Amino acid sequence: MRRAFHKDNRIVPLGIMLLTFIVFVYHFELDRQGPLGEIPAKAVQAVPNALIVESARTASRPLEEPVEAQPIKEEYQEHHAVPSAIPSAKPIVSSSSTAAKQPHSAKGLSTDDIVLMFKTGATVLWKRVPIHLTTSLSAHRINHDNVIIYSDYPETIGDWEIIDVLANTSEQVRHSELFEPYVQQGDYEARQNYAEQLNVPGDSAGSSGGWKLDKYKFLPIVDHAGRNRPDAKWYIFMEDDSYLFLPNIVRYLEKFDHTESWYLGSLAWIHGDYFAHGGSGFALSRGAWEQSFGSDPHLVQKFEAFTEAHGCGDHILGHALKEYGVQFGETTDDSRFRYGFNPESHWSTWFEQDNWCQPVYSWHHTHGRDVARFYSLEQSWDFDHRPLQFRDIYQALVAPYLRSRVEWWDNLSSKHEIRSSNAKHVQAPSTVKSTETWRSAWQSVDACEAACTAWAECVQWSFYEDLCKMDSMIFLGSGIPAGDPRRQSNLMWTSGWLPRRVENWGCQ
Ligand SMILES: *[C@@H]1O[C@H](CO)[C@@H](O)[C@H](O)[C@H]1NC(C)=O
Ligand SMILES: *[C@@H]1O[C@H](CO)[C@@H](O)[C@H](O)[C@H]1NC(C)=O
Repeated sequence: MRRAFHKDNRIVPLGIMLLTFIVFVYHFELDRQGPLGEIPAKAVQAVPNALIVESARTASRPLEEPVEAQPIKEEYQEHHAVPSAIPSAKPIVSSSSTAAKQPHSAKGLSTDDIVLMFKTGATVLWKRVPIHLTTSLSAHRINHDNVIIYSDYPETIGDWEIIDVLANTSEQVRHSELFEPYVQQGDYEARQNYAEQLNVPGDSAGSSGGWKLDKYKFLPIVDHAGRNRPDAKWYIFMEDDSYLFLPNIVRYLEKFDHTESWYLGSLAWIHGDYFAHGGSGFALSRGAWEQSFGSDPHLVQKFEAFTEAHGCGDHILGHALKEYGVQFGETTDDSRFRYGFNPESHWSTWFEQDNWCQPVYSWHHTHGRDVARFYSLEQSWDFDHRPLQFRDIYQALVAPYLRSRVEWWDNLSSKHEIRSSNAKHVQAPSTVKSTETWRSAWQSVDACEAACTAWAECVQWSFYEDLCKMDSMIFLGSGIPAGDPRRQSNLMWTSGWLPRRVENWGCQ
């Protein structure tokens, strides 16, 4: 539709008139927005999860400098997810060894040139994979032959043969306690049990601790993909709870020479190893594969002990690649590595002036419903016109939920916090018109909103008891829907946005 719109001159003036009218009406609507009653039914479906929110709050904010990630326990993949945005000037990767390396142009890349390595697991496959079969993996987007689905149990879904990537694991690893869920999986099938959790009789949660197997998969996946698809220029990794905007990624990778060593994604670090965060998706060039896995048929076995001793498969892969001279990202102050591959989904990450016009490559922790929405947006997009950017995600999936004020909505604003106890001492930013208004922010919902309005950069605020939080970035979060038990156990949060200020954000 968009393509047609751009190409048809007769429709353009009409379209602009219509758009002007819609924007006009929309402005009036915003002014009249009341509390929750007016939220579209869609808005309350995303059930907030304190854990995700908490990890998002710590993980997805721009950091001043790298922080050592904690090794992993239950939420194995969650803790080391760090933002792909690193605003500080501090180098994130030592630049000395690779300063001279610049990407070469390799125009004309398509999904025929890549292999998509799709990772899932037996305990989540039936819940997470089907949505991707009709979206991410649809044949008009990427050829079946260019996709390999990796799990820890072999299955067949229609034309898809799902590979048990742990099938060739050594005897030594098989005896590891952490590997037990793999050995137990066969018993589920043998006893007619379903690890589907679809709320249908016969469901079981599957072998407990199935996620522990995750770390064992990364090296065999990359090894297998490279050996079986030696003609691919790029190996792109994605997880079953991610969405990758492939057309954006393919255009991004065109800037790099696939025969050189490139390992690109969202930066994460553990134990001083820099690596691409798995959930955010990443790309490995054929050059990087040959330099590592290609040069050493025993790479997987070589890192068995390291795998046993560490928690995250993406870290293990990054560590192994580094041993073969494949560095993550490669440059330091290069903005190409700052944005795009995201460790969270669109509703638990931030939108700001700095990422507004940057391309979006992925979202992680995606619900099936969001996968469907991202896919629809992608299908409607004319990538020859320009890449899909943060501002487009904002327009399509964030802005429709924003209200000038809404009750029972989470407290995601956090740049400035004013409460009764600190109000006397807080320093107002220089762009705040009135210090008095700023320091009174804790007194009421109205006072909090007034303080936000008085601060030129403020785009959202939230209020709870005697705490007013304000931020210069948009963070959608999620509300607490009617009937949710949390409404019984908490005071009411009230949040608000100033979306008109966002409309002034432009592209530098
Ligand atoms: C396991 O080994 C067999 C035999 O060598 C091979 O055909 C298969 O591709 C291997 N599987 C994986 C996941 O590497
Ligand atoms: C909201 O803020 C309060 C106080 O800072 C905190 O205890 C709570 O965990 C926050 N809730 C969410 C969902 O972030």
